[in-house]
Amino acid sequence: MARGCFITMEGLDGSGKTTQLKRLAAALEAEGHTVVTLRQPGSTALGDRIRGLLLDSRSESSLGPIAPLAELALMFADRAQAIAQIIEPALAAGHIVLCDRYTDSSEAYQGGGRQLGSETVLALHRAVCGGLQPDLTLLLLPPLATSLRRARSRNHRDQRMRGTDENRFERESDEFYRRIYQQYQAIALREPERVVPVTHDGSIEEIQQILREIVSQRISSIDSASTASVQGA
Ligand code: TMP
Repeated sequence: MARGCFITMEGLDGSGKTTQLKRLAAALEAEGHTVVTLRQPGSTALGDRIRGLLLDSRSESSLGPIAPLAELALMFADRAQAIAQIIEPALAAGHIVLCDRYTDSSEAYQGGGRQLGSETVLALHRAVCGGLQPDLTLLLLPPLATSLRRARSRNHRDQRMRGTDENRFERESDEFYRRIYQQYQAIALREPERVVPVTHDGSIEEIQQILREIVSQRISSIDSASTASVQGA
């Protein structure tokens, strides 16, 4: 069976990527694809524990300040587990993997936001992920002010309605988010083949339409490349 297709969604908190990912998964399934979705950090038992440690803003009152390199290493521990347990088996079975965040998030948040630099992050990526790169990365990058406004109002709502508190990152300063935004832009410029930025600040439906077109083009080019290599074999 042909290897599947690995698609990641990236963007700032409040960029709308989680809503878009769910809709995209449903649309691809309706077309007959088998889709495996996951988010990082999380989606494995180990990853969910790591997510709790890293995202809950109350962690630091019991653990003390989390060092930026410890934060980065935990993101990669989560990723290693997800690759072994979910991503590689799904790709080997020929499925579409839709992953909410991957190494670009570490490069943007820890490399850019926490100022650890891209080189450290990319070296860890090579060591831990064996260079496993997405076939396509959808980067939702509406204006910074839009993402910040949505992220902050979502957090207040989540805390009020569900009692969850995943806002350790979202409490950071606007300057932190500006560095993340700029790092995402730099990644898109460096890897235009893989990373497709969507900067349009439209409705959920409009953005979904744009994403579906990008994804179906990429899937058909992967399909024709694998047919050509089977014929040439
Ligand atoms: P989300 O699931 O709502 O996108 O939240 C995940 C948070 O974790 C978000 O603030 C970004 C952050 N994060 C990193 O800082 N580095 C990473 O490598 C990943 C995967 C997430």
